[in-house]
Amino acid sequence: MSILIKNGRIITDEKDFQSDIYIEDEKISDIGVGLSLGAEHIIDAKGLYIIPGGVDVHTHMEAPVGGTISSDDFETGTRAAAFGGTTSIIDFATQSHGQKIRETLDIWWKKAEKAVVDYGFHMIVTDMPEADLKDMDEIVREGVTSFKLFMAYPGVLMTDDATIFRVMQQAGKNGSFVCMHAENGGAIDVLVKQAVAGGKKDPVYHALTRPDTAEAEAVYRSIALARMADAPLYIVHVSTYDALEHIAEARDRGLPVYGETCPHYLLLSIDDLKRPDFEGAKYVLTPPLREKRHQEKLWQGLQRNNLQLVSTDHCPFCFQEQKTIGREDFTKIPNGGPGVEDRLHLTYHHGVNEGRISLHRWVELVSTAPAKMFGLYPRKGAIAVGSDADIVLWDPSKEHTISAQSHHMNVDYSMYEGFSVRGGAETVISRGEVIVDKGKWLGEKGRGKYLKRDQYTGRV
Ligand code: URP
Ligand code: ZN
Ligand code: ZN
Repeated sequence: MSILIKNGRIITDEKDFQSDIYIEDEKISDIGVGLSLGAEHIIDAKGLYIIPGGVDVHTHMEAPVGGTISSDDFETGTRAAAFGGTTSIIDFATQSHGQKIRETLDIWWKKAEKAVVDYGFHMIVTDMPEADLKDMDEIVREGVTSFKLFMAYPGVLMTDDATIFRVMQQAGKNGSFVCMHAENGGAIDVLVKQAVAGGKKDPVYHALTRPDTAEAEAVYRSIALARMADAPLYIVHVSTYDALEHIAEARDRGLPVYGETCPHYLLLSIDDLKRPDFEGAKYVLTPPLREKRHQEKLWQGLQRNNLQLVSTDHCPFCFQEQKTIGREDFTKIPNGGPGVEDRLHLTYHHGVNEGRISLHRWVELVSTAPAKMFGLYPRKGAIAVGSDADIVLWDPSKEHTISAQSHHMNVDYSMYEGFSVRGGAETVISRGEVIVDKGKWLGEKGRGKYLKRDQYTGRV
C-alpha cells in the first residue's frame, strides 16, 4: 500500500514546514516538496497539521483492579485511542503474587492479540526475590524495558523498600528503569481505616485519605532509593506541586529522574469527587484529584521540562455496573478513569489554544518524548524517512464537545462530559494504513503489532 500526502504542514517537536510525504510498506519513504510519485491513495492535507501519531505510555486495558476488570479490552481501547490520534500504547502487564514475570508477559501478549494499534508493555512487579532478578533481564531482552512498582496498596500491589531497591539496582544494570507509583501506602491505609470507622464513606474520602504529602514523601523516598541504586527513575501520574518540586530538585542536581502527568490532574479537581448522587465515584482514581491550585503548577512543570510527558492512565470502569460496587463504601470503588481517546484533544485545546505550550512542545509531550523515553524513537514519535508511518492529520479548527454519547471508549461516562475543544484528529494512519478517516473506522481487529522496545538511553 502506498500513500502520498500532499500539501500538509508538518509539525514535529522541532520543525514546522510545508511538505509532501510518501508512505510505502508501513514506513515513511520520502519527504519533500512537490513529490510526484505514483501512489495508490492520495490525501490532500491542505489546512491540516501533519503530526507523528500519539504515544500513550500509561494504559490499563482489560486490567484486573479491585476485584473487577477495566472495561476497555485491547480492541475497544486501542480503537478509541486511534480515534483520538494515538497510534501506540504501552500497557501494564501485572504480575500475580508468586507468578514468574515471564508467564505474566505471555498472558498479556495473548490479551493484546486483538489490538488495533501497536502496543508494548511495562511489567508491574509485585514479588521479586533475589533469586528471580535474572528474570527481569530476560524480559528486557524481549522489549519490556520498564518495570512499575507500587509504594501504595499494601497487601495487594505494594512492594517494600528492599524489593524496590533490588529491582532498581537490577534495572540500572540491565538497561531498563522503574516507573514508580509513589504514594505512602502505609499512612494511607491508616487514614482509610480511620475514615471508614468514622462512617466517612462517600467518594470524596478517597481523596481526603490520600493527602498530597503521601505522594510527596514517596516521590522523595523513591528518588533517594534510585540515587543509592544508581538507577534512572520515572514517576508515573504526578498529581501535586509538592511531588513535582522533589522531581525538579532531583533534576537540578542532574539525576536521571523523570515524570509524567495526566490530563485529569491538569483539568479536574477534588471538587469533582464531591458531585452529588454518587457521581463523585466517576472521578475516583489514584493518586486522587487534587485542589485546583496544583493545576497551573503541573502545567509549569510541563513548560519547564520537569515533567516530560503527558499520558492518560486510562483505566475505565463503567459507572452503572462497576463504580457502584462502592456505593456504600468508597474503598470498594474500582480506582481508575477513562481518557485514552481524549489526551491529544485536551492537551491541544487547553495547552496550545490557551497559550500554555507551543505546538512543538505539544507534539513532544504527547508523541516524541514518550517514544524517546520508552525506547521507541525514531520508529515512533517522528515524521522522518524510515520511521513507521504513524501519522495524524490534525484539523486545528475542528470543534467538538466531549461526551460519552459520542466517544469510542467502552465506558458509560466521560470525566470531561461537556468540555468543548477546538482541534481534532481528522485522519489517522497507523503503519501506513488509514484506520480512521473523518470519524469513520477503517481498521481491523488484531492489526496492532507488539513493540519490542529499546533499552533506556536517557535521551529525554
Ligand atoms: O486509579 C488508577 N490510577 N488506576 C490504575 C492503576 C494505577 O495506579 O495506575
Ligand atoms: Zn499507579
Ligand atoms: Zn496506571
